[in-house]
Amino acid sequence: MQRITLIQPDDWHLHLRDGANMASVVSATTRCFARAIVMPNLKPPITTVAEALDYRKRICAALAPECHFNPLMTLYLTDNTSATEIAQIKDNEYIVAVKYYPAGATTHSENGVTDLQKVWSVLETMQTYDIPLLIHGEVTTANVDIFDREKIFIEQVLAPLLENFPDLRVVLEHITTQEAVDYIIGKNNKLAATITVHHLLMNRNEIFRGGIRPHHYCLPVLKREKHRQALLRAATSGNPKFFLGTDSAPHAQFSKETACGCAGMYSAPAALELYAEAFEQNQALDKLEGFASFYGADFYRLPRNTKKVTLEKRTWKMPTYFEFGKQKVIPLRAGAKIYWQQVQN
Ligand code: NCD
Ligand code: ZN
Repeated sequence: MQRITLIQPDDWHLHLRDGANMASVVSATTRCFARAIVMPNLKPPITTVAEALDYRKRICAALAPECHFNPLMTLYLTDNTSATEIAQIKDNEYIVAVKYYPAGATTHSENGVTDLQKVWSVLETMQTYDIPLLIHGEVTTANVDIFDREKIFIEQVLAPLLENFPDLRVVLEHITTQEAVDYIIGKNNKLAATITVHHLLMNRNEIFRGGIRPHHYCLPVLKREKHRQALLRAATSGNPKFFLGTDSAPHAQFSKETACGCAGMYSAPAALELYAEAFEQNQALDKLEGFASFYGADFYRLPRNTKKVTLEKRTWKMPTYFEFGKQKVIPLRAGAKIYWQQVQN
């Protein structure tokens, strides 16, 4: 039996939702991740320190008593965010970053930034206090092809942003293209990127395999095989600028299986196991620990975890659905095989 043991990983990009939905999904993450950066795109969004701390309390209240999971919070940047609010983050151990959604780019991004000029003083404050900016890197211009949105964002928004704020620490979230990989590699270590497991395992054919597959629709949308290969090479390269962020984003079944479905895949129930599968494809299981457990913590200047987790090469079947408050949520690989399984240490 093949086994791998690694220092416990963290998920540096996660959607937990709120209320009963959050309570239904949080244990899928805490079963293997020690910490996660929790995205603030609730409705209404988490825009203040007080709201983020309240949200964190609700998450902690939903944890099993023996669970030591540490949710790390983010604030949602809007056109109206004040520099004074953001400055408070610097002294807060539970709020670690600010999330920039271009308005209209993805789920619950309608309150996002319409023009970076409007948040210039906030960005200056973040640079001064060394608060990381987490970016959903897609332009929203209607005439830009959906498969080019990340590439154009890098050229038109990210590059000028980094020129204006050379000391700002930035994470380009859930990268999906060769262009993003090349751009990140070419920059200094103030710029890093998260990579999801679904972008490592699937290309855009999986949205249309035998019919339309709403559960494979996420943003940024899956790309061509050559981009998946570029992401796999980056994730397994041992370059600390690339680290794990699942972007696990649960939506109720009815809001995915409909005429205009929501974007987001629920990967948490087998996230680490699926990353192991992806790394195995590239004969790089030895690189999984750095990507999953070290580089993110190093980037955020947090201590690495000390406990360990073990995965065994053993086939099991993902349930066809999970409870999601009063609804159901369909996980990635629903009803299909998963080839690694976490075992108790
Ligand atoms: C995310 C969600 O549902 O909140 N959806 C997604 O497709 N990834 C938002 C996001 O990260 O873009
Ligand atoms: Zn996300």
